[in-house]
Amino acid sequence: AIEKTFSIIKPDAVKRGLIAEILKMITDSGLKIKGMKMIHMDRAQAEGFYAVHKERPFFGELVDYMISGPVVVSCLEGENAIEKYRVLMGATNPAQAAPGTIRAAYGLDIQNNSCHGSDGPDTAKTEVAYFFNDDELVG
Ligand code: CMP
Repeated sequence: AIEKTFSIIKPDAVKRGLIAEILKMITDSGLKIKGMKMIHMDRAQAEGFYAVHKERPFFGELVDYMISGPVVVSCLEGENAIEKYRVLMGATNPAQAAPGTIRAAYGLDIQNNSCHGSDGPDTAKTEVAYFFNDDELVG
C-alpha cells in the first residue's frame, strides 16, 4: 500500500554538509518527498518527539544532540514507505548497518547516526503530524 513516513536528517549530517547526499539516496530509492523543512528544534520539542525514550539512559544526551544544530524534517511517501525507508537507513548502529545504507555511508556512531525514520504506521502518523500541518504536505 502507499504509505507516508517521517524522516529527520540529523544534526551530525547537516553539520557535515550531507543534506543533498541523503536526499538523493531517498529520492533514488523511489520515495517521494511530500513535505520538507529545515528547523532547529528547541528542548521541549525534542523531548516531546522522543518521549517514548524518556526512561532510557541515553535520553538526555539524545535530546542535547538533537538540539545541537538544525535538522531537515520530511514526510516521505511511496509503496511500503515505512519499511522501505527503514531498510534504506540501515541499522541504528552504523557499525552494524548494511553496505549501501545511509547510516553505513554517513553515520558516525549509535547516537550520531545521521537519520531517523518512523518505525511503524502509528508512529509515522504521530511523527508526521508532530512537524507538519496537512497544508504543508504539498508534494
Ligand atoms: P533514532 O532512530 O532516531 O531513535 C532513537 C535515537 O537515539 C537513535 O536513533 C540514536 O540517535 C539515539 N541513540 C543513542 N544511543 C542509543 C542506543 N544505545 N540505542 C538506541 N538509540 C540510541
